[in-house]
Amino acid sequence: MLSYDNKIVLAPMVRIGTLPMRLLALRYGADLVYTEELIDWKFLRSKRRYNDILNTVDYVDQTDGTIVFRTCNEEKDRVILQLGTSNAERALKVAKLVEKDVAAIDINMGCPKEFSIKGGMGVALMAQPEKAFNILKTLVDNLPIPVTCKIRILQTPEETLEVVEKLVSSGIKAIGIHGRTRDERPQHAVHTDIIKFVAERISVPVIANGGSKEIEKHADIYKFKEMTGCSSVMIARAAEWNCSIFRKEGLLPMDTVIEEYLKLAVEYDNSPCNTKYCVQNILRDLQDTPRGRQFLDCQTLEQICSIWGLGEFCRETQSNYQKRGIKGRWQVTP
Ligand code: FNR
Repeated sequence: MLSYDNKIVLAPMVRIGTLPMRLLALRYGADLVYTEELIDWKFLRSKRRYNDILNTVDYVDQTDGTIVFRTCNEEKDRVILQLGTSNAERALKVAKLVEKDVAAIDINMGCPKEFSIKGGMGVALMAQPEKAFNILKTLVDNLPIPVTCKIRILQTPEETLEVVEKLVSSGIKAIGIHGRTRDERPQHAVHTDIIKFVAERISVPVIANGGSKEIEKHADIYKFKEMTGCSSVMIARAAEWNCSIFRKEGLLPMDTVIEEYLKLAVEYDNSPCNTKYCVQNILRDLQDTPRGRQFLDCQTLEQICSIWGLGEFCRETQSNYQKRGIKGRWQVTP
C-alpha cells in the first residue's frame, strides 16, 4: 500500500501532468506523480484499451478518439489520478474503471476556476464539507487503493482545521494542502503557518503545496517542508518550469530538460499540441528569441524535435510506430 510519508510529489497540473512529464519527474527523483485533473463525466465517455505498440493503457474518448488518460507500467505504483467531481456516484464509477491502473485516487477540492465552481467541483466543495465528505467516504469504502484530496486553506487556521478534520474522518490516507485561499493567486505569499497549524493537529500526512515561488533548487524543497512542518511536499510550477527540480544532484540546463522531455513525448506518442504547450512553459520568456519564434511556428512533433536535434529520432520512431499499426491518429488530435 502506498505511503504518503516523506514524499516529494509532482502536483496535479492541467495539460502539464500528462504521461511524458510524469515519467520525466519520476526519472528525476519525484516519489509520486499526480495526473492532471480529469473531469468525471468526461472520463466516463472513455473506454480502456491496451496499446500493444506503446505498451500503454489508454482511456480513449469514444466521441472523438482523443486520449483522456494514458499510463504505463513504469508509473503504475506511483501515479495518482486526480478527479474533478461533484458527485460521489460518478467519482466511484471512474475510480472503479481505473483502480487497477493507478496507485491512488485524489479529489480536487482546490480549483478556483469558474468552470469548476459552477459545476460544484474544486474549491466549491470546501464550502460543502458534508458533500465533500460523502464523496471521499464513498470512495474509501469501495476502493482497494488509497484515496486523498487536495484543498486550499480557508481564512483562518481554525476554520481550515475544522473542515480538514471532517474530510480526514472519511478515512482518506493523506491530504494535499495548497497554502492559499480561494481568492488568492499564485503571486500571493503562501501561508505556511496555516499548513503547519493543520499538519500538527491531524492524524494523516499533509502534503504541503504552494511553495514554488521560493523553490529554486532541490534544497529549497526541504526548507519548505520544514516551514510547513509537513512530511511531504508537492510541487507544481517549479516542476512545470524545470522538471529537474526533483534531482537531488541539482538542476539540469533547460535545453537538456527539453530534450529529455521530447524523447519521452515521442516515445509515448504524445500529441504535438500538448507537447508544444509543455515545452512553451519550460521556455517561458525565451519564446521571444529567434529560436523561440521558430518553435512557436511548429505544428508537428518532428518540427519541434528538430529544434533540439531530435528530428531524425522523431521521424524514425514515428515511422516505426506507423509500420506497426499506429496511423498517426493521436499525432494530430490535441
Ligand atoms: C495547477 N494547479 C492544479 N491543481 C489541481 O489540484 N489540479 C489541477 O489540475 C491543477 N492544474 C494546474 C495547472 C497549472 C499549469 C498550474 C500552474 C497549477 C494548482 C497546482 O497544483 C498547485 O496547487 C499550485 O500551482 C501551487 O503550487 P506551486 O505552483 O506553488 O508549487
